[in-house]
Amino acid sequence: MKEHDDVCIKIVKSDFTFGRRMQAFFMRRRTNIRELNRYAGLPEDIKCFFNPIVEADTRYSVARMPRDHDGGFSRPVFAYGGVSNRTFWEAVEKIYKVLFEKKLWYFDVFNGKNMFVKKESDNVWLPVIVDFKRSGIEGFPLQVHLLLPSEKRKKMDRKYTRFVKKYRKD
Ligand SMILES: Nc1ncnc2c1ncn2[C@@H]1O[C@H](COP(=O)(O)OP(=O)(O)OP(=O)(O)O)[C@@H](O)[C@H]1O
Ligand SMILES: [Mg+2]
Repeated sequence: MKEHDDVCIKIVKSDFTFGRRMQAFFMRRRTNIRELNRYAGLPEDIKCFFNPIVEADTRYSVARMPRDHDGGFSRPVFAYGGVSNRTFWEAVEKIYKVLFEKKLWYFDVFNGKNMFVKKESDNVWLPVIVDFKRSGIEGFPLQVHLLLPSEKRKKMDRKYTRFVKKYRKD
């Protein structure tokens, strides 16, 4: 990918405190590979809203940075403060519905820093999720209550509702 200026390489952080290092070692060592596999297994009808992972290893993962129609880099939802665009919010709702139907508890999705606004044209904006590493209790090993399916649903619901409340402006 030498010729590209839009490559995003992620490395698992190593400057954690002892506790977080242990967590990283046991729970997150395979985090990049898990994200790559997760991308491959995403439901087809919402896969287009997830930023593809090009390659991954135990130490790093490689992806592209989403771009808008004018060639500029897309920006995260939080950088906009609020988003007022019909297609964008329809797509967000669809993502929510499909993740719920399939019981995919990807807690990172409804987050202003992990979701980008990709402007396909002046009027058509779409969400692109750049971080979907954490799922279920694996992502939050200290939240033991997440072993319960009802709790996963509640956590996901809370995240979605908060996200919409914070950023949806119409
Ligand atoms: N493909 C990408 N293109 C552009 N910016 C990105 C991309 N991936 C990540 N970023 C930016 O970098 C930030 C950090 O990346 P990421 O969300 O993957 O890690 P993290 O949130 O620190 O990890 P974790 O959730 O495991 O703690 C994101 O919030 C986003 O703003
Ligand atoms: Mg993130």
